[in-house]
Order: sequence, then C-alpha cells, then structure tokens
Amino acid sequence: MDSNLYINVACALECVHTYSLIHDDLPGMDNDDYRRGKLANHKKYGVGIATMAGDGLLTYAFELLACENNISFFKRIALIKILTAAAGPAGMVGGQAHDKGAEGKTLPLSELMFLDQCKTGKLICASLDMASEIAGLSKNDKEAIHTYGKHIGLLFQITDDLLDFNGVFQEMGKVPLQDISEHKCTYVTLLGKHQAQQRARKEAVAAIQSLGAFGEEFKPLRELPEMIFCRRK
Ligand code: IPE
Ligand code: MG
Ligand code: MG
Ligand code: MG
Repeated sequence: MDSNLYINVACALECVHTYSLIHDDLPGMDNDDYRRGKLANHKKYGVGIATMAGDGLLTYAFELLACENNISFFKRIALIKILTAAAGPAGMVGGQAHDKGAEGKTLPLSELMFLDQCKTGKLICASLDMASEIAGLSKNDKEAIHTYGKHIGLLFQITDDLLDFNGVFQEMGKVPLQDISEHKCTYVTLLGKHQAQQRARKEAVAAIQSLGAFGEEFKPLRELPEMIFCRRK
C-alpha cells in the first residue's frame, strides 16, 4: 500500500489533534502557557484567535477527508463517521468535559480510566480504525486493532500524568506540575508514582498482546508501547 496516497487522512487527524491541544491549553481549560516548547497559541495570539484556530482546524479536517479522491465515496463516509464519533461528545470532547468536571475531585479508578479512554484514547483509536478501514481489514482484525488502541490510549495518558509529575520543560516542551495546580484527578494522584508506572507497564503488555498473530508488517505497532512507556516528552 502506498501510504502517500492517504497523507490527507493523516493530516485530518493531526488537525483534530492539534485543535484539541490548542483548546486544552486555553485559560478556561487547563490554562497552560507552553506547548511543544513554544508559547501556547492563546499566549501568542490571544484567546479569540486560539479559539478560532481550533475551530478552523476542526472544520478543515473534515474538508480534507470529504475531498480525498484517492478513497472511494463509501470509505470516505466511513472515515468521517469514525472521526466525528471519536472527536465529539461521546469521544474526546466528552472526555474533556468530564476532565473539567472532575477538577478538585477524587474519582474512582474505573471512572478515571473511562474519562481517559474518551479524552485521549478515542482519537488514538480513530487513527487506527481509519487505517483499518482504508486497508479493508476483516471485522476480527479491526476489533483487535481497536483493542490495541484502547490500551495505547490509557498507556499514553498514564505516561502523560507521570511526565507532568516527573518531567522537565526542556524535554516535554510544556510546564510540569500543572495537573496539581489545576487540581486534576490523575493516575499519580490516585495511585502514586510507582503504581501508576506499573499500570502503564500493564497497558503496554496488553497492547502488544492484542496484536496476537499479526505478521511482521505490524512491527512498528509492536514497538510503539515501549516507546511510549519510556518517553520523556
Ligand atoms: C489533553 O490531556 C487531552 C486532550 C484531549 C487534548 P492533558 O490536558 O493531560 O494533556 P496535556 O498534559 O495538556 O498535554
Ligand atoms: Mg486537559
Ligand atoms: Mg492539558
Ligand atoms: Mg496532561
């Protein structure tokens, strides 16, 4: 498969992801001043422009998908359906609202996991589900890849929570200890650093297990959990 044919699909996902981060950093959200080592969008351009930058990226993502002529009409609709569901109220935005509502609270672990599966896991799953759809995988293989995505989502957010606690600005490009100052409920506040690391390890192992008997071409997906587990940024 020539992956260059689907570059606009990857760009659409990146647009939604970047919009989610620009809005996540807004003063009414996590109130963060830095992202990717630079001033957050709202710190450089103001809240109004940052809000519209996010709105623009979200809308543009669906223009990119709708206009992708390398993909059949039916598959394009399927991709749009996957991404809208993952980004919307039952997905990332729902998770973000839950995250906001949980500030200052101690959630049960199962609820934190649900929240994180929505705010972080759904877009990760969407990227995998969209690739499965383009590749025309069988129903069983699609399910296995989706389960992999759910574990990767949790692994990514647990390591994100750990980095907020342990990380340094020079590597992460964002200011550490922000979760504490915003009274967030995280894996670190609920479980402590060591148990959170163990939990991350469990998700990494489960992610690899979900790939079962997939062949050599899935090597990058098998290597990804370890990269996320060890990441410093
Ligand atoms: C953000 O989670 C998830 C999004 C939907 C953008 P965080 O708020 O923990 O992400 P960081 O720590 O600001 O990168
Ligand atoms: Mg947030
Ligand atoms: Mg944030
Ligand atoms: Mg975070």
